[in-house]
Amino acid sequence: MQALLRVLATGKDVAEMGAAYGETAAVLAETARSVVTVELDPERVAVARERLAGCGNVELLEGDVYEHLRGRGPFGLVFVDGGLRPVDPERWEAILALVEPGGLLVKDDMTPGRPIEGDEVREFLLRDPRLAATEFLVAADMAVIVAAKLG
Ligand SMILES: C[S@@+](CC[C@H](N)C(=O)[O-])C[C@H]1O[C@@H](n2cnc3c(N)ncnc32)[C@H](O)[C@@H]1O
Repeated sequence: MQALLRVLATGKDVAEMGAAYGETAAVLAETARSVVTVELDPERVAVARERLAGCGNVELLEGDVYEHLRGRGPFGLVFVDGGLRPVDPERWEAILALVEPGGLLVKDDMTPGRPIEGDEVREFLLRDPRLAATEFLVAADMAVIVAAKLG
């Protein structure tokens, strides 16, 4: 997953929703132009802050990601970490608003083999006409959806 994100982030302004300990943010920083990453849990933020101290292109913010990112962007890549599990359509609208036209939205931690119908995340990402999206396996037990914002 990190190898994929490292490639997709290349040259882009990136937003990561859910930093945890900053592991993926550090990988994104290797290729991205800039990375904004947000984490709710103060203890995780403290660990991430240490890990990311040497990454001059990373901005680490503590608090609710929807609050912090509202009105920011647009970003060339928005990584919605599986830990967030947004199912509310309003949340997805807010996330989509962060992505620039032609930019990418990545959602990991999808359980493989589930139908689209009845799965709020899949219905939004794979059926919304504003997106071109595909789902694929990155491990035997984990799928990812990569969606590009059209127009
Ligand atoms: C699976 S972890 C993130 C892992 C990280 N992206 C990585 O790959 O290294 C998900 C994180 O999202 C955080 N989180 C959940 N809801 C959040 C919110 N509304 N705002 C900010 N962070 C949130 C959790 O505290 C948790 O640390």
